Amino acid sequence: MSERTLLPVASGRDAARRSWRLLRSRPGWLAVTVSAFVVAGLAGLVPVLMIGRVVDAVGSGGDRDDVVQAVAWMVAAGIVAAGATALSTASLARVVAPSLARLREDVLDRALHLETERVEAAGIGDVVSRVGDDVRQVTESLDEAVPATLSSVVTLVFTVGGLFTLDWRLGLAGLAATPFYLGAVRWYVPHSGPMYREERRAQGERADALVTGVHGAETMRAFGRERHAIERVERASAAAVDVALRVYVMFTRFGFRMNLSELVGLGAVLVAGYWTVSSGAGSIGDATAAALFFHRLFNPIGALLFLFDTVQAAGAALTRLVGVADLPGPEPTRLDPRDADLHLVDVEHAYEPGHRVLAPVSLHLPAGRVVAVVGATGAGKTTLGAIAAGALRPSGGRVLLGGQDLASVDESQVRRHIALVTQEVHVFAGTVRDNLRLAGPDATDPELWDALATALARAWVEALPRGLDTVVGDRGHRLTAPQAQQLALARIVLADPRVVVLDEATAEAGSSGARELEQAALRVLAGRSAVVIAHRLTQTRDADEVVVLHHGEVVERGSHDELVARAGRYADLWRAWSVRA
Ligand SMILES: Nc1ncnc2c1ncn2[C@@H]1O[C@H](COP(=O)(O)OP(=O)(O)O)[C@@H](O)[C@H]1O
Ligand SMILES: [Mg+2]
Repeated sequence: MSERTLLPVASGRDAARRSWRLLRSRPGWLAVTVSAFVVAGLAGLVPVLMIGRVVDAVGSGGDRDDVVQAVAWMVAAGIVAAGATALSTASLARVVAPSLARLREDVLDRALHLETERVEAAGIGDVVSRVGDDVRQVTESLDEAVPATLSSVVTLVFTVGGLFTLDWRLGLAGLAATPFYLGAVRWYVPHSGPMYREERRAQGERADALVTGVHGAETMRAFGRERHAIERVERASAAAVDVALRVYVMFTRFGFRMNLSELVGLGAVLVAGYWTVSSGAGSIGDATAAALFFHRLFNPIGALLFLFDTVQAAGAALTRLVGVADLPGPEPTRLDPRDADLHLVDVEHAYEPGHRVLAPVSLHLPAGRVVAVVGATGAGKTTLGAIAAGALRPSGGRVLLGGQDLASVDESQVRRHIALVTQEVHVFAGTVRDNLRLAGPDATDPELWDALATALARAWVEALPRGLDTVVGDRGHRLTAPQAQQLALARIVLADPRVVVLDEATAEAGSSGARELEQAALRVLAGRSAVVIAHRLTQTRDADEVVVLHHGEVVERGSHDELVARAGRYADLWRAWSVRA
């Protein structure tokens, strides 16, 4: 195995810069989010301050109205805090979800346009894990860890602020716990990550031992090897238990360090409180509120440490995403074709110097025209299709769309006008809706359903457990090959390009599915120009022109009827096909 050159990873600063740029694109919701967090933070302070007031009221002989008023404030603050917290979470999602979607699109855009050499050097696994696992990691942390972390930080900052507003000496006393907390964190962080990973690995191994044991039970019994499998399960279980115990011990030790910090901090606050009260500088109510404020920090600090791992992992995933998104793209010249006329002028291609796989060929595809390309495996069909779609730069010749040379523009510009559907259709981890929105980010649900209907996919999507919201892809509902192709066709309807290159898009399906897929392709192609690379000759009958490739050379071209009449290679193919069909 050769050395891998993985795709770049952005620095934390670059990741932060790009995240900020994305978040800033929704200024309204961003402002709502920040305000809601601030209001929630402030409202959270009120009950504690009011308890202080009640203590003072009771201590000074007691005025019933004061107590009632304080309680009323507490209730009101509680309601405001709850509302603001709910609003902050909801509005955060409105800021973050579209930003993440944009980032994912950028990553995807870059990933899909990486030069082949780069992908080969990085390994396809690296590319796939970026657009799959890394996006999932960030998304999952956004659902829980990020809101919880933010609200913990807000509580922390406001509570410490609250301590200081009571009396700066109480504030300083609270801060006395800081070195102890830092000590606990510095001990915990380097221990926890590796240990949690080890725990997950041990659990994975145990699951693997169990599953292989159960699946292979028959075979093992036949060979008298049950004992061996049982021993493996026993060993893996013992190892998992062992790690779990060590994790527990670590957690207990960490808990001890946390409790010690809490003890020190609370002790310091109480001592400082005693001192302010006895010296007449502060009231008993203030000292009470200070102690309660400090106690109020226990949960957010615990939550921050507990979530540290998740947030750190999400941060790492984010830098991996931004690393790809920030890759320099091709020249950003805009493609502004005056019409949808596609001209291939003497294009030829050699993947390696001296090994020409496509001899010079010219094609003209005026709006609405369909050219079918046929030929044996290795004849150069995919190469020709990729060149026509602007996905592969030919070694010689030019590709013009509406008079503009595709070599001078960014491939993402080309994609808006020319769609390429290949055999390897990607189903991205996400919902059916996400998969379609890739092609039409602004499409409404009725538009998505219409697109699915055109691709003859409406019925089976409706039958999915959650319709458009069904998660598909490796970890979700698995789609069959024809279904994946139909999603790709629906994406074409949504993207609405004027030219489509269909590379053997129907070849994968079994014969019944293939016919339906062919129908779907016909419906989607209606009204567009198309280069159809066909294995099934039913696709060539209605084409305006058929091009027959053989070892990279165009050996025949003309309409179906002309070629059949010529009794050459195509006529042979057609006869063989008609007999079979
Ligand atoms: N990325 C590549 N690198 C080197 N040679 C390639 C590459 N892709 C295709 N080829 C070669 O180019 C020729 C044409 O391939 P292709 O266009 O895929 O034909 P078809 O689609 O008709 O099967 C074949 O000899 C194939 O081995
Ligand atoms: Mg091919």
